[in-house]
Amino acid sequence: MKGIRQHVNPLGEAFMRVRARRLERPPGLASECAVEVELGCADADFSFELAERRPDAWVCGLEIRERVLVVNRARAREHGLKNLSFGYVNLNVDMDQVFGEGEVDRFHVLFPDPWFKKRHQKRRVIEPWLLGVLRRQLRPGGELHFASDVFEVALEAMSEIEDPAIDHLGFRNLAGPWSFWRGNPFPAASRRERTTLRRGQRVWRMRYRVP
Ligand SMILES: C[S@@+](CC[C@H](N)C(=O)[O-])C[C@H]1O[C@@H](n2cnc3c(N)ncnc32)[C@H](O)[C@@H]1O
Repeated sequence: MKGIRQHVNPLGEAFMRVRARRLERPPGLASECAVEVELGCADADFSFELAERRPDAWVCGLEIRERVLVVNRARAREHGLKNLSFGYVNLNVDMDQVFGEGEVDRFHVLFPDPWFKKRHQKRRVIEPWLLGVLRRQLRPGGELHFASDVFEVALEAMSEIEDPAIDHLGFRNLAGPWSFWRGNPFPAASRRERTTLRRGQRVWRMRYRVP
């Protein structure tokens, strides 16, 4: 996306203020329809494809860079996708504002961390506070889907999600404990996933279900 910053520092002062708002379901969708949410969506290729393939579901893309959201909303209008919404969030600050308890069927955290360096580890999006929030917002039987092209990033996320200290949250790895899921079981792929596969690189994916 031309003219839009590639990264912002989510720990910057401007992003620490709580300003995410509750996302409202677009009119025309059934009140009990499936709710699929991409966290850190950037240009949201995954969400666009999913919304097209599943017109009965409400698909939401959340992102910290607000200019990206403006572009995405315009693209959704152009494509006539009425089941696709976008909203601001800083995942580690105000995700608790966006959905209520038990409202979401699936969260997709796709290629989330551009921060590879050790000194940037404190910026990782998967951390205990966020996991507690996602767990509350998931419906019974809901899912957390994570993918990364960086093995260490995926492993760190896995060790956070499967940390015995948060066993009570009930995230169950669908591939078995400490295991990755092979292949993409969803009818959509993000831009980063396509680039990764085109380069012949691996996608490290996990799927967790809650009771
Ligand atoms: C590497 S991009 C991946 C985009 C897309 N999911 C994909 O797979 O192609 C990661 C995105 O997460 C966003 N992001 C990073 N930290 C965030 C945070 N704390 N809250 C919300 N979005 C964040 C970034 O702005 C960026 O757009």
